[in-house]
Amino acid sequence: MMLKTIILVGGPMKGTRFRPLSLETPKPLFPVAGFPIIHHHVEACAQVEGMKEVILIGFYQPNDALNRFITQAQQQFKIQIRYLQEYTALGTAGGIYHFRDQILAGNPDYFFLMNADVCGDFPLKEMLQFHMKKPASTYCTILGTEATRQQSLTYGCIVESKDTHEVMHYVEKPETFISTTINCGIYLCSPTLFGPLEVEFKKNLEQNYNCDYNTAPAKEVIRMEQDIFVPLASTGKLYVYHTDRFWSQIKSAGAAIYANRHYLDLYQKSHPERLAKNSVGKPQIRGDVFIHPSAQVHETAVLGPNATIGKNCVVGEGVRVRDSVILEGAVLQDHCCVLDSIIGWNSQIGVWTRIEGTPNDPNPNKPFAKIETTQTFTNDGKLNPSITVIGSDVQVPSEVIILNSIVLPNKELSGCYKNQIIL
Ligand code: GDD
Repeated sequence: MMLKTIILVGGPMKGTRFRPLSLETPKPLFPVAGFPIIHHHVEACAQVEGMKEVILIGFYQPNDALNRFITQAQQQFKIQIRYLQEYTALGTAGGIYHFRDQILAGNPDYFFLMNADVCGDFPLKEMLQFHMKKPASTYCTILGTEATRQQSLTYGCIVESKDTHEVMHYVEKPETFISTTINCGIYLCSPTLFGPLEVEFKKNLEQNYNCDYNTAPAKEVIRMEQDIFVPLASTGKLYVYHTDRFWSQIKSAGAAIYANRHYLDLYQKSHPERLAKNSVGKPQIRGDVFIHPSAQVHETAVLGPNATIGKNCVVGEGVRVRDSVILEGAVLQDHCCVLDSIIGWNSQIGVWTRIEGTPNDPNPNKPFAKIETTQTFTNDGKLNPSITVIGSDVQVPSEVIILNSIVLPNKELSGCYKNQIIL
């Protein structure tokens, strides 16, 4: 069997809720549990037998970070990886149709399609087995999971036939409740899916025949959810495979903390060697902690649970870090304390300073509690309590407290802040 994977990485206009962290690096490359978000996707699909190629489709200009990621992942997973750039945002299916020749080259039997901004313990092998048992005319299997009624409104919602798991009705982000089974943004597709994509593409061209190509939205835009899944429901060509394993979107920085915790937890089984252990002369480790081999951590520091210390970070004497991600090159000076926060690239936190956020986790103990749907601001314009995010190259002085705040890059703070966005 020959398989491929397409990862939809979006582009610079996407990931705005992830600012300021996405100002420095494309969101799909943001490190979670020590590795870029899409490294976890590539790792999952490389484990499926027959996987020959991973194609990243997006509308970012190719850049050094992306090229470095591709080179490194190709070497590690011994798999071909390429980036194909859309000339403009073509939607969640337009890019796939645009690059159909490259996707179909070599005649893959099936291809996985993955949104980059999700994380999880993806059951890809199980999806493949499920899909192969369905009629040969099946176009696509959607990975589905259960959300609460409230959460479901921000996702694609699926009504299925309970016996066959055929998708009978699909509504993208409904205004009123449809179903608690939601689309996880992970699909297994047969090459025959290009049939309905072609029909939709031609329909678009005809409808937009008289449009000014420069001002009209690209005629090639196809939305997988609304344009393809909605009409395919109830035709016997679309199925849903359920998972109750960990899965979540990564839209906001808070969700990155959530994803960090769950990927670290997965390492217990998949990569125990990546988790720090307690030993004499080493920092005290509580629960799941990832420390990059190049980081310098003082033996009196106390780390975890759910802490990631990035490349070349320096962690001083008596430092405490919990439920946080410390990004490459950050320096945590002696006795500072970082809880429920992200510390940006090359930022410095002064001695005895406290950086603290409020976890926004609706259901911390449920493995697939997913999303946090909270808004950045309350209705009366106040900042909702959130994790604290310190942008890159920020200097935080000694002996201050920064609570539930977001600090943009390159700031030199001079005092304490609570519930603020520091521009
Ligand atoms: N290449 C490319 N081009 N990628 C895109 C484009 C595009 O024009 N538009 C979106 N993407 C990528 C995004 O970067 C993201 O990884 C993914 O496609 C989905 O993006 P959104 O358009 O923001 O959709 P969503 O996340 O709100 O909803 C989708 O995912 C949910 C699960 O997380 C839908 O598929 C929902 O039905 C689903 O529940």
